[in-house]
Order: sequence, then structure tokens, then C-alpha cells
Amino acid sequence: MNKAIYPGSFDPITYGHIDIIERAAEIFDELIVGVLENRAKTPLFSVDERVNIIKDVLGQLTNVKVLSYEGLLVDFASQNGAGVIVRGLRAVTDFDYELQMAQTNRVLSSGVDTIFLATPLKYAYLSSSTVREVASYGGDIGKFVPPSVEKLTYEKFGIIKGNQ
Ligand code: COA
Repeated sequence: MNKAIYPGSFDPITYGHIDIIERAAEIFDELIVGVLENRAKTPLFSVDERVNIIKDVLGQLTNVKVLSYEGLLVDFASQNGAGVIVRGLRAVTDFDYELQMAQTNRVLSSGVDTIFLATPLKYAYLSSSTVREVASYGGDIGKFVPPSVEKLTYEKFGIIKGNQ
């Protein structure tokens, strides 16, 4: 079985991530969305919240599993029998970091390869921190995230929107 992992922080998941997940799910028999629990960072959403949000948003994709992980990505991949890591490239500015991460992971585990999917132009500017920042000021994040994520993100900032 051709299994891959799409790892990230997903704090919160955006339309850019969803685009990569949908395309990777067509390429691989099974895709695991790996949600990083990074104890060094204080996320907006806890890791359990992020896993549940993603499961809810991806409900219709039957070959996609959502799991959290801590520690090295290559260990998480091998524990789950996945030989491929999928990452999205938004712009050339992502490239240095992503290349270095792919090369490091390949040195750590020669059984794991990384493939990159190009993020569509319409999401090239998008990041989870942009979503958090715009939401924190009550700005419109409806073009960045699905409605359920929009509502939960505003709630985190104690913002009540008229149409929510
Ligand atoms: N659409 C929208 N946003 C995207 C995106 C896309 N297609 N692809 C990336 N992003 C954004 C994310 O929203 C995030 O934005 P933010 O920084 O504003 O929150 C940013 O790009 C980086 O995202 P993320 O995918 O979460 O990467 P990361 O750099 O935080 O973490 C891991 C990458 C999780 C894969 C990696 O750190 C990891 O697995 N670490 C575990 C430890 C380990 O194995 N270390 C060795 C690796 S060399």
C-alpha cells in the first residue's frame, strides 16, 4: 500500500492545506495528516482540537486519517508504515527550509522520501499565522478557512460575529 504523511502544525487548518490534502489523497492509497504537538510552542488550538477540527473538515475523504504526533517526523512515519512525506510549496521563500528539512529527514531515515506539491497561486500568500492575526482583530477570514474553522477561530479570540 502506498502510504504518505502530510505533517504540519495546522493551527488552524486553511484552504491551502485542504487543497494539498485533497490532491495528495488522490495520489496515495492512504494519507495520514500528522498534527504536530510541539511543547515548545503555545498554539491557539490544542493538539486535540486541531485533530478534531481537521477530521470534521475532511469528513468525506475516506482514505485520509488524522493523527497527532510528538518527536521526530521520520519516527512517526515509520511507526505508521508511511514511506513518503508530502509538503506544499507556496513560494520560493519556502524552498530553502523545505529542502533542508527533506534532506535532514532523508539522512535520519533513508526509508522516507519527501515530495512537494505546488500550492495554487490563489493560496500562495496564506498561512495559519495570517489567519490568527486577521481573526484576532475581527477581520474577515472567510476566504482563508472553512466556516466551521472560522467560527472556532473567532471564538478563541472572544469575537462574536453577527452572522455566526
Ligand atoms: N497552505 C497554507 N499554509 C501553508 C501551506 C499551505 N499549503 N503550507 C504551509 N503553510 C504554512 C502553515 O500554515 C504555517 O504557517 P504559520 O507558520 O504561519 O503557522 C507555515 O506554513 C509552516 O507550516 P507547518 O507545515 O506547520 O510547518 P512547520 O514548519 O511548523 O513544521 C513539521 C513542519 C511539522 C513537518 C516539522 O517541524 C516536524 O515534523 N517537526 C517534528 C520534529 C522533527 O522531525 N524535526 C526534524 C525535521 S528536519
